Amino acid sequence: MKNFITTQDWSMQDLQAILDYAKNLKKNKFQDLLKNKSVALLFFNPSMRTKVSFELGIQELGGYAVVLHPGSDAWPIEFEPAVTMNENPEEHIKEVAKVLSNYCDLIAVRAFPKFINLDEDFEDRVINSFAQYATVPIVNMETITHPCQELAHILTLQENLGNLRGKNYLLTWTYHPKPLNTAVANSSILIASKFGMNVKLLCPSPDYNLHEKYLEQAKKNCEENETEFSITHDIDQAYSGSDIVYAKSWGSLKYYGDAEKESIERHKNKHFIVDEEKMKKTNNAIFSHCLPLRRNVKATDGVMDADYCVAIQEASNRKHVQKSLLTNLLKGK
Ligand code: CP
Repeated sequence: MKNFITTQDWSMQDLQAILDYAKNLKKNKFQDLLKNKSVALLFFNPSMRTKVSFELGIQELGGYAVVLHPGSDAWPIEFEPAVTMNENPEEHIKEVAKVLSNYCDLIAVRAFPKFINLDEDFEDRVINSFAQYATVPIVNMETITHPCQELAHILTLQENLGNLRGKNYLLTWTYHPKPLNTAVANSSILIASKFGMNVKLLCPSPDYNLHEKYLEQAKKNCEENETEFSITHDIDQAYSGSDIVYAKSWGSLKYYGDAEKESIERHKNKHFIVDEEKMKKTNNAIFSHCLPLRRNVKATDGVMDADYCVAIQEASNRKHVQKSLLTNLLKGK
């Protein structure tokens, strides 16, 4: 039984097979590939694209999706082992994972970090506990990485640029009024490095570097592909020569758990917005973002409305790649 928790557990060839089958499903939308299959979609956090694309995708393949929001329309869950459950949670992950495994053929989970304790958050305990106790495949709908977004991102880049090997890929930090999750940023450097691109990470200062775990994984992927991995804080140098610009905002890991101190640093960096002037420095790059995006905060109207912006295409590809992924996990296709 295979899980889809991080793309690092999958070879590039196996990921490419999912992308290739997604291209087929994009042309032939309705097929009975998931007939009589049921999927539990557990959302511990809000969503628009992920919820709609999973629900509709499963329906289009003849399957059935059950959407649950633990703590809201389902009981709150305890993840601490060997604990006396005197607090809010009504049931333990050991029972939840086993019961859902009996009802459903696959469990997909969205569980963001809590932004209190960095080490605890980066253990990714919620999804790893599901993987530990469930007896059906587990799919990550965004925790500390966002692998389904990675698949949609790469499919979109391939549709626009063809072979990605050797392309110059820029992940730029952008300002946002709140300290956001690093998941999409972690995922961006993992998948760009795995697919053979030269990866550059632009952020305001070393305080905004991503977690060492993901930097090391991306560097290793680049070493294996004989490509370059670099980190810069120089905006002009970063944009120059880029073929792809991907933008994401995230909170500084240095001030993790201290939102007040973190916000003082973050508010100094509003000029990291992606605008037309910066895009002119690139090698006619395409631009994308996972969405949701605050216009004229993270990227200007001019960038979002430009022909080179492929964010909508990436969002729509979520459904196709997820249909392909579920078919792979449940049918071996
Ligand atoms: N990109 C993405 O996962 O969007 P949602 O948060 O709306 O699901």
